[in-house]
Amino acid sequence: MEVLLFENREELGKAAAKLIGQLVRKNPKLVIGLITGETPLTCYRELVRMHREEGLDFSQVVTFALDEYLGLPPFHPLTCRSQLTEALLKHLNAKQENLHFLDCGSPDLDRACEDYEREIREAGGIDLQLLGIGTNGHLGLNEPGSPFDSRTRVVELSEETKRYLSRYFGSQVPQRGMTMGLGTIMEARRILLLAHGSAKAEIVAKALKGPITERVPASILQRHPACTVMLDKEAASRLSP
Ligand code: GLP
Repeated sequence: MEVLLFENREELGKAAAKLIGQLVRKNPKLVIGLITGETPLTCYRELVRMHREEGLDFSQVVTFALDEYLGLPPFHPLTCRSQLTEALLKHLNAKQENLHFLDCGSPDLDRACEDYEREIREAGGIDLQLLGIGTNGHLGLNEPGSPFDSRTRVVELSEETKRYLSRYFGSQVPQRGMTMGLGTIMEARRILLLAHGSAKAEIVAKALKGPITERVPASILQRHPACTVMLDKEAASRLSP
């Protein structure tokens, strides 16, 4: 694992965007796994700036959203699809047909999950998977106890995640979601995990330095051959030297 430290979330976001920009320039058809939440916002802002001011071209880039909440109306502003569209995708020149989202409106959710896995395979696999980390160590919505070989599927959200999400959803917190599995995530050729803020310090230390266990889903990243971790000082504060 390569661990890179930054002064604050702005610097971290810029560095993440710079890396993504380099990969897109090298391979204009890059297949990127995208995340939601607060963590990637400084990175997404910088990518939009690079597109506008430096002509970074997303016209052939392919994206797959990492997860989605179940039970929200299709145009709810907090669906992962809406969040990604607002924060990033609508500001770029990516083609609609290259943007993939988990279909929570499908009458057959298991089938929709299988279709998603197939779409990822047909795109040639994910070149770069972005990741954030939940305070309980979850990746996407792979909560503690998720099998390391899990695939895209419907999951129950943990109590901790629901508590965390209530800051956005109030009393209407989703109970279930759809997420790429840990097995799906680990097949990405390269992984970029981002974390900032002191609330993530303890779980970052466990994930990076603790035992590899399904109780801490992100600990599986220690086994990935090409995983870069970008942290701000606060998120890195519990990592022993
Ligand atoms: C949600 C998402 C995760 C994300 C996590 C952290 O649960 N499903 O993919 O990593 O939140 O969110 P934040 O970046 O807001 O801390």
